[in-house]
Amino acid sequence: MGRTKINVILLIILKLFLVGTTTGEETCENDREMDKLCGGHTYKSVKPLLDYFKQVRNELDQSEIKEKHISEINADLMIKYHEIVAIHEKLMKEAFQLDEYKNQIIRKENDLQLCQSKVDKLESEINSQQTTINKLTLHANFLASYDECKKELSDKSNNLEICEVQLKKLNSSVIEKDEKISEYSATIQNITENQKTISLKLEEKQTVLFKKDKDIEICHEEIVKLNRTLHNNNIPSSCLPFGEHPSVHEIEVCSSFDVLCDSQLAGLDWIVIQQRINGKENFTRDWATYRKGFGSLDGDFFLGLEKMSELTSLQQYELYIHLVAKNGSIFYARYDDFKISDEDHGYALSLGKFKGNIKDAMRNHENMKFTTFDRDNDPSYDNCAVWYNGGWWYKSCSHCNLNGLYGQYLYWYAEKANTLKEAKMLIRPKEDKNK
Ligand SMILES: *[C@@H]1O[C@H](CO)[C@@H](O)[C@H](O)[C@H]1NC(C)=O
Ligand SMILES: *[C@@H]1O[C@H](CO)[C@@H](O)[C@H](O)[C@H]1NC(C)=O
Ligand SMILES: *[C@@H]1O[C@H](CO)[C@@H](O)[C@H](O)[C@H]1NC(C)=O
Ligand SMILES: *[C@@H]1O[C@H](CO)[C@@H](O)[C@H](O)[C@H]1NC(C)=O
Ligand SMILES: *[C@@H]1O[C@H](CO)[C@@H](O)[C@H](O)[C@H]1NC(C)=O
Repeated sequence: MGRTKINVILLIILKLFLVGTTTGEETCENDREMDKLCGGHTYKSVKPLLDYFKQVRNELDQSEIKEKHISEINADLMIKYHEIVAIHEKLMKEAFQLDEYKNQIIRKENDLQLCQSKVDKLESEINSQQTTINKLTLHANFLASYDECKKELSDKSNNLEICEVQLKKLNSSVIEKDEKISEYSATIQNITENQKTISLKLEEKQTVLFKKDKDIEICHEEIVKLNRTLHNNNIPSSCLPFGEHPSVHEIEVCSSFDVLCDSQLAGLDWIVIQQRINGKENFTRDWATYRKGFGSLDGDFFLGLEKMSELTSLQQYELYIHLVAKNGSIFYARYDDFKISDEDHGYALSLGKFKGNIKDAMRNHENMKFTTFDRDNDPSYDNCAVWYNGGWWYKSCSHCNLNGLYGQYLYWYAEKANTLKEAKMLIRPKEDKNK
């Protein structure tokens, strides 16, 4: 093998030589010159070639070494190649295994998913069971509380029974009390009725007592009065002592008061008890005012029912009525037993026998009680004092009215005299006159 290689190399060298001569045609003249130059130097020219051959021979040796080395390397490579193949096979195997694993993993993943879904399912089942459990717990609680309730209920019903028993007891005691109350109220009613009869009796007794008191008072007054006349008292009880000197004087009956004395109209010693001469006084007065008297003695006035009653209760009085018609004509009317009863009898009017130059219009009012707008004693359906604006001994209503509204109802019913300009009522003790 080494020889063929050497031959090959020799051939290559020859070729190189030939190539060198042919290519030198153009420079042939240069070469000839060179030959001339180099004539003596042929050895000199072959020597490098021989060196070269030597060098080639070395190089060939070396390449043989290298070839050996390469074959070694080749062997190595082969080994390596086999190794690589083995590794490749191994890798292939591993890849296959990897695929297997991958598949396995995928399968496992699927399994896992299945598992997960199962788990989910189970979870939801658990949840639903939890709710059921909760419900059941609630139910159990409810059952427990229901039991409690039942117990309470039974307790309560026991209480209720006890209560009912107590209620029955109370009811019976209430009924007893009701009965007692009705008994008591009957007694109370009886007592009230008894009290009523007793108080009625008491009232009767009181009236009797009151009357007796009044009688005693009157008696006492009479005694005092009699005592006074007995002892020649200074204050007179009539206008008698004033004789020819008429005007206002104090007199005393039960009480003392001023009177207007008159000795001109119809003789001496008259007491003026009523006078209308100017119409300046309001005669629409209530009972209390007519009782007490009102007006002024120098004008229109009414002496007062109580004083008239007092005076005329002591002895017999005569009444003189003086009337002046609107045309100035003067009339009179006299009664010989003028008397006014006490307040209890309504200050009723008594007259006695009549004498006069006009009709006896006053007769219509005999025995009538006095009536004012606030005390209706007249037998008329209406209150006559309201109609005629003054108190009077109205029947229904009047034939004469000396207290009626001045200029309108001050009148004496007669054929000739009707409404009046003036009117006066005068009284004096009857027996005094007879003396
Ligand atoms: C109370 O007694 C009366 C009469 O006996 C009866 O009618 C009534 O029902 C009783 N009430 C109760 C609450 O027991
Ligand atoms: C009522 O009172 C009268 C007389 O006081 C007496 O007789 C009668 O028994 C009384 N009745 C009652 C129910 O108390
Ligand atoms: C009567 O009057 C006299 C003298 O005024 C007097 O002393 C006497 O007590 C009176 N008698 C009576 C009962 O009033
Ligand atoms: C008179 O007195 C009455 C009662 O007080 C009253 O209503 C009336 O107006 C009086 N009349 C006059 C004219 O003053
Ligand atoms: C006044 O009138 C009356 C009738 O009302 C009459 O009788 C009388 O004569 C008259 N007097 C005078 C003075 O005219």
